[in-house]
Amino acid sequence: MSKRIAMLGSGFIGRFYADSLLGQRSRDHITSIYARREESAKKFASDYHCDHWTTNMEEAISHPEADVVCIALPNNLHEAAVLLCCKHKKSVITTKPLGRNSEEAKRMLLAVEEAGIFNGYLEDLVYTPKFIKAHESVRNGALGRILWAKSRETHPGPHSEWFWDIEKAGGGCILDLGCHCVEIARSFIGKDIRPIEVMCWADTQVKPIEAEDHAIGLVKYENGAIGQFEVSWTFRGGMDLRDEVMGSEGTIWLNNFLRTGFEMFTTGKGADYIAEKAESNTGWLFPVGDEINDLGYNHMFTDMFNAMERGVSPKETFYDGYVVNCILDASYRSAKSKLWEPVKLDIWRGRTGVTKDSHLAEYDSENFLIKEEMTHFGAKKVILKNKESGKISEKVLS
Ligand SMILES: NC(=O)c1ccc[n+]([C@@H]2O[C@H](COP(=O)([O-])OP(=O)(O)OC[C@H]3O[C@@H](n4cnc5c(N)ncnc54)[C@H](O)[C@@H]3O)[C@@H](O)[C@H]2O)c1
Repeated sequence: MSKRIAMLGSGFIGRFYADSLLGQRSRDHITSIYARREESAKKFASDYHCDHWTTNMEEAISHPEADVVCIALPNNLHEAAVLLCCKHKKSVITTKPLGRNSEEAKRMLLAVEEAGIFNGYLEDLVYTPKFIKAHESVRNGALGRILWAKSRETHPGPHSEWFWDIEKAGGGCILDLGCHCVEIARSFIGKDIRPIEVMCWADTQVKPIEAEDHAIGLVKYENGAIGQFEVSWTFRGGMDLRDEVMGSEGTIWLNNFLRTGFEMFTTGKGADYIAEKAESNTGWLFPVGDEINDLGYNHMFTDMFNAMERGVSPKETFYDGYVVNCILDASYRSAKSKLWEPVKLDIWRGRTGVTKDSHLAEYDSENFLIKEEMTHFGAKKVILKNKESGKISEKVLS
């Protein structure tokens, strides 16, 4: 079945979404476009063959030929748009972050659930081809017990004025980029594992703004795993998207955007757009092969619409957006207090009472195994800890 979409917002992400929705001979169609300014609505309508454009948000949402509303608006407008979708009983998918804070996110979550409408959270970075493959390996146990999941998104800062206004955006890079990183780490660790507390450093190091432009945070989970986010609006050199997962049996390193194996040199002749947030189009460059696909948009919309058709929830829902907002709220509190701050989750639907997994690997009836190693001189060694005395010893096996 094809989907008829009302798109709210004709800017940066609205156009990425439209390129994905209408790319590759897609069956889906953008029926209506809402933008703040008439000329942008008209231009978008002409570029993406929309039947209808408007500068009235409710008109787009209530359009009789729209099956689903896609919210691609500044953060301060997400809640109003969601409430209108509830009023008109329209399926809704919204960009990140869900809310400017957990209170907003909770109101949106409760509203869509009360209205009984389909809701999807457009966290594209858990739909990238690399993430999907890595996540499958993690779920299949290839890394053993997940101990640490780190995600980094840093770039030279966003492209529209409202991002830099703390009232409209709701925060700085923690909210804007941390929402991606938190959901990536949470997905690797297990979305049913409760995030407990956060320690975060944040500062405004470069930009003349009130919000933070650089931050690092640690998110502790109930099973003892640790999530880490590194975010910045002050990084120079393009957009750095990297993830790292460490488990008791293995490791995954993902480089999603810069230096992915496509490197190009040009003196600048004929050079144009290289990739999102690229700072140069001359010299050695790191282009991205298929940005729409590599950033996860294609797989994300496929999951959203397949779920809608099957009457089930997509992989990412408003509930996930709400949990992410709760973790980010704790990050802001920690950056201020300089203490571990609890993640306050009024609504928790995952497992409860999970305990930290045992770190004691059995060697034999008397010892735990600390390490096994083959040395460069051909000896196989084990390092052991006696279960009763606690004494550490080593044994050369061959
Ligand atoms: N990877 C991602 O998932 C990703 C990337 C970029 C942005 N986003 C999110 O998408 C949303 C929109 O961001 P964007 O980068 O497209 O912003 P943008 O400024 O490029 O576009 C915003 C659009 O909203 C519309 N609009 C309506 N009322 C407005 C108002 N009062 N002020 C400004 N614009 C108004 C306009 O049509 C405008 O084009 C934000 O929530 C942002 O966090 C997500």
